[in-house]
Amino acid sequence: MSKKVLVISTSIRAKSNSEVLAHAFEDGAKAAGHDVEFVSLKDKNIAFCKGCLACQKMGRCVINDDANEITEKILNAEAVVWATPIYYYEMSGQMKTMIDRANSLFPRDYQFRDVYLLSVAAEDDEETDARAVSGLNGWIDCFEHARFAGKVFAGGVDAPGAIEGHPALKEAYELGKTI
Ligand SMILES: Cc1cc2nc3c(=O)[nH]c(=O)nc-3n(C[C@H](O)[C@H](O)[C@H](O)COP(=O)(O)O)c2cc1C
Repeated sequence: MSKKVLVISTSIRAKSNSEVLAHAFEDGAKAAGHDVEFVSLKDKNIAFCKGCLACQKMGRCVINDDANEITEKILNAEAVVWATPIYYYEMSGQMKTMIDRANSLFPRDYQFRDVYLLSVAAEDDEETDARAVSGLNGWIDCFEHARFAGKVFAGGVDAPGAIEGHPALKEAYELGKTI
């Protein structure tokens, strides 16, 4: 059955490696017949969460910037795919800021069930993405109907575009196909 899939690419760098990885996943999910939307945080205006918690009553954030539209897309997607560069052995600040700004989702009738993580880093140790996986699971733990459904990590890529030819691209494509 066709699913609504949202891919959120959080690197804002030109020729982003994690964005290429995200597109590979997108291609796989599309090949499997899913309805995939790709959102990049590039050129988006997203302020930090102020922590006022007005969102819990209003169902949206009081800050009127691009985060609200992305939050609505997360609300309505059945699968959410986060793509991030590893920054200091964690998810990027952009990704964390978007997660925080989507705090209105908490009391709402969110549709997402499967959550995926795609990440890239200069280092090629298999533990390099561990804290980012853990951080994303902290978010997922707050949504009882959601689960961590899978991940792809591409290590050893640093310069813009260095991911070209990396085996993780095929892995991401195949994971996208399994949704
Ligand atoms: C602020 C910052 C912190 C980073 N921290 C790490 C790190 O902890 N470990 C690592 O292996 N690479 C680290 N990197 C390298 C990036 O993960 C790497 O360049 C990656 O390919 C960037 O992905 P992108 O092209 O999608 O932005 C860091 C890069 C930046 C800019």
